[in-house]
Amino acid sequence: MPDTPKPRILIDCDPGHDDAIMLICAAAYADVVGITTVNGNVGLHHTTRNALAVAQLLGWDVPVHAGAARPLIAEPVDARQVHGETGMDGATLPTPTRTAPGDGVEYLLETTRQEEGLHLLATGPLTNVALALRIDAGFASRLAGITFMGGGALGGNVTVAAEFNVFADPEAAAITLTADCPVRMCGLDLTHQVTADQDLLDRLRAIGGPAAVLTTEIIETELAAYGRYATSSPEPPLHDPVALLAITHPHLFEETATPIHVELGGVHGRGTTHVERRAHPGASATEAPSTRWVHHVDGAAAIDLIVEACARWA
Ligand code: RIB
Ligand code: CA
Repeated sequence: MPDTPKPRILIDCDPGHDDAIMLICAAAYADVVGITTVNGNVGLHHTTRNALAVAQLLGWDVPVHAGAARPLIAEPVDARQVHGETGMDGATLPTPTRTAPGDGVEYLLETTRQEEGLHLLATGPLTNVALALRIDAGFASRLAGITFMGGGALGGNVTVAAEFNVFADPEAAAITLTADCPVRMCGLDLTHQVTADQDLLDRLRAIGGPAAVLTTEIIETELAAYGRYATSSPEPPLHDPVALLAITHPHLFEETATPIHVELGGVHGRGTTHVERRAHPGASATEAPSTRWVHHVDGAAAIDLIVEACARWA
């Protein structure tokens, strides 16, 4: 049986610990056309430098372009308490020898004009994605679809109700969820099914090599930091790698096509994603929704794939 061709994807991210592990999995399992970076976990300078450094560590000359330095409307927030001042606390990374052009949004638009049918993975705030959707009305229709890590159906991690990527730029998330293409949400209810623990560390330590060492450093740092900030999971969820695997290994996931709405107002609710789960929601859901709630993953198989990806650089 010939190997299934790797999906050709674009990645928009805010490295960030789990984004870095996602990049390892993407390099192993996808045909990555290019990477754009966005302000998110830390500022754009750091997320861009981190993307370049991880690619260099892997010997990966993938194009990297920097995008938006701040949200569309919201005041910038960050996740330094999780990822550290540089966004890659605890990780040993090379100093990038490359730089990234600052035309990330135009890069997304131009790349999809050159090649249609690419899948867009977003694992940070959706600012670049929303700007691309608003600048060029044909952008969405040129994509095979958008899969993003964000939101969720069971509460938040940065507020009681909102997940970080959506909370950081709710207007961008609302624009993305109304894009004219399939949009798949991999939220906290999904990503919390795949968490890092000592067993994973033991498996990674047995491998060696730059990818396993980086992933070990990240997980050790996150395990040590847990308890220093509010979290609803006893172990660090591997958010962004899960969203990548939803593209490369869809057979491990279950999803439902259903309307998904973002709360833009409210004191406690801004950035909440509301997943329609009523059986007969009425006329508003007559046409087939283009949004898909990804709600289940084979967690053990996902962990195995993360380990196997790291072993590619052993
Ligand atoms: O809420 C988790 C998400 O926010 C992940 O993408 C993490 O990297 C941060 O960006
Ligand atoms: Ca991220």
